Parts: sequence; structure tokens; C-alpha cells
Amino acid sequence: MAAKPEVCKELNPTQVRKDFPIFERTIHGKPLIYLDNAATTQRPRQVIDCLKNFYEHMNANVHRAVHTLSYEASCAYEEAHKKVAKFIGAKSWREVVFTRNATESMNVVAYAWGLQHLQPDDEIVVTIMEHHSDIVPWFMLRKMKNISVKFIDVDDQGHLRLDQLKTLITLKTKLVGITHASNVLGTINPVEEIIAQAKKVGAVTLIDAAQSAPHIPIDVQKLGCDFLAVSGHKMLAPTGIGFLYGRKEMLEAMNPFLHGGDMINTVTTESATFNELPWKFEAGTPSIADGIALGVAIDYLTNLGLENIYQHEQKLLEYALDKFEELDGVQLYGPHSAVNRLAVLSFNLEGVHPHDVASHLDSEGIAVRSGHHCAQPLMHRLGMDNTARASCYIYNTEDEIDALVEALKRAQKLFRR
Ligand code: ALA
Repeated sequence: MAAKPEVCKELNPTQVRKDFPIFERTIHGKPLIYLDNAATTQRPRQVIDCLKNFYEHMNANVHRAVHTLSYEASCAYEEAHKKVAKFIGAKSWREVVFTRNATESMNVVAYAWGLQHLQPDDEIVVTIMEHHSDIVPWFMLRKMKNISVKFIDVDDQGHLRLDQLKTLITLKTKLVGITHASNVLGTINPVEEIIAQAKKVGAVTLIDAAQSAPHIPIDVQKLGCDFLAVSGHKMLAPTGIGFLYGRKEMLEAMNPFLHGGDMINTVTTESATFNELPWKFEAGTPSIADGIALGVAIDYLTNLGLENIYQHEQKLLEYALDKFEELDGVQLYGPHSAVNRLAVLSFNLEGVHPHDVASHLDSEGIAVRSGHHCAQPLMHRLGMDNTARASCYIYNTEDEIDALVEALKRAQKLFRR
């Protein structure tokens, strides 16, 4: 049994960086400054070693054999579910279903809950700042079940229009889907208040925590949500692994999403009965090594302390907001202060396409994302098509923010002919 990790006192990004082999490389001859963490984070050596160790020493399928390797793999895979459950404050590890990512988690809700429970004229309420993965599955249901999808608007700074809650969330509302934090603006939404309103009308609640779980402590029991969707790759784990938290009563009342091996109890030529939670929702051979590595990523984050991570990013955000003030001709989107906001900075340089900005930054070794960030309804609401976006994590430093701002000044000179 591994020793209980001790939580560090304060996050030291210079120390943290040493765990990430990728920072040993250069990009176009420059040290890598990685500011694309909202898209995916880097992986620490501990996670990379876990994958290598699994394939070198433990590789076997889970839940299918009595031999030692299968037993060890099954125990480690189950243990990873327990780590996730503890990380999000779930009542039971059986409420944690491993999926490929947050998108798949939301599709499980759409297919396994929505298809079964929605009736014509029912309504689903989401916000205009959702990622496409919390919009498009509901459009699928709208077509198949003849329901409506309604959007809570934002104000010009990117705060949710909470004044619309009472008019939009009504007795017709069957599901309310809200992003905990915007991947474009960094806004942290008051999900508790929205969940409370949803509960008043008996609606099911789904929180997209893809952008929040890596950065702030989450307690699903305190939130009181029915479902919560998370991607592992945005929190140091491999790609292809994520999870859906579902309240036990909800998961038990739902039909499976995918059907096949491991999700059954018995099968005859006539019918099948289903396995216990969470395996009922994990059909087929799962991403075993990636799931175990997700547990290691959670150990790593727990050891740093989610509160320390949040404080570190708050300092970076405040620093970055001040530095961006120095820049003329730059439009920064999202709340103007660091309150209830993550260190995600979407911006445009006047007269320069964000892809050109991102290409210039890349030539200086700085990785940012440019584009619509899979949130086109929000982009259109705020009157733009694309932005550049810098998003921070545990290994970023104030020096890197300085480097970003200086590189942006050079980009302005370069593109302003
Ligand atoms: N959803 C990810 C992002 O915001 C990919 O970049």
C-alpha cells in the first residue's frame, strides 16, 4: 500500500517543473513556455513512469481471469476509481465511471439518461458559454425526442445572467447543464446557485468540470449535482481517460450506454442482466493503464494540494491581468478582475488574426491556442470568431507571463506595417 501523500505547504512552480520531462526540450531553439493548458496539460514523470511500469510489469486484462497479473491489474484499476471518488468527494467509488473524456461522459448522460427519460416538449437548459460537448449532445436529443434547448446568456464581461434563471428554469426543464468554468473566459460559475434553482423544479443537474477539476477543489456532495464530467488529460493524466460522476440512484436507474463485455451479469440467448456499478457503464476492455495513471495524476495533484494550486494560479492571473494592462491595442475577454476567474486569458491583438499571433508566439517557443475553442455560441455572443488563448497551470511562472507579454509587443510591431 502506497504511503499517504503529504500535502506541500506552498506550490513552487520551479520545483514542479523538474517533474515534467517536456520542459527539457526547446522549441525553435527557445525554452518551451507552455500556455495551452486548457486544451491539455503536460504529464509529470510519475504518470509517464506509471504507464511504462504497467506495460512492463502488470499488463493484463481486468475482471476476466484469476491469474496474478489480471488480479493486480484489476485491483490497481479499481483503486484508481477510489482515488477519483475521494478527489471529488463522492459518497462511493461505485459512482465513478471511467470514460474517454468529459465529452464522452456527457454523451453517456445524453444516451443513457436522456433517451430513456425525456419526452416531447421537455426542455434542457444550458449556458451560452458551454463547450460544444455540453451543447451538441442535447441537439441530438432535440432531434430525436422533440425537446427544446435553452441558453442562459452572459453579460459583456462574461458573467452568467443569473437574473434569467427563474424564467428559463421552469417545470418543463428536465436537465440543467452548466460548465463550472469557461474554457474561453476563465469565469467560474456559481454552480451551487444554479443547482439549487434546478432542484426546485426537479431537474437533473450535470456539471462540466473539465476546466475546473484540475484547478479548484470539488466536492460533489456539497455541490449536490447529479452528474459531473471530467477529462483526465487536462489534469496531468494520459489522453483517452476521463470520468463521469453520477449519483448512485441516477446511475442505477439508467440503462447502459454501450453494450458488450464486462457490463453484463448474465447473458442467455434471450436476454442479458447488467453488472453492478460502475462496470455497467464500462463496456469492453477499458483503458486500464490510462485509468491507473489517472490515479497517479490525482496523487500528484493531491500532494500539491488543490488549494495551493488555486492560490498559485490566482497569483499568476492577477500578475497577468496587470501585465496585459501595459499593452495597447489588445482586447482581453472575460471578467476584468481575478475574482471567480481561472488563469485563462483569451485575447485579440487589434488587426492581427489570432492564428498569426499564435504562430508568432510559437516562433518564440510559446504555446497558446488560437481559434474558437469549441465554444462558438459564446464567441458569437461576444462578437468574435476567434481569439488567442493563454491558459496557465502548476508549472507556469511570472517570468513566463513576462515573456508572453514581451512577445506580444514584438508581434504587434511585426504585424503593424
Ligand atoms: N476543450 C479544450 C480547449 O478548450 C480542447 O482547448
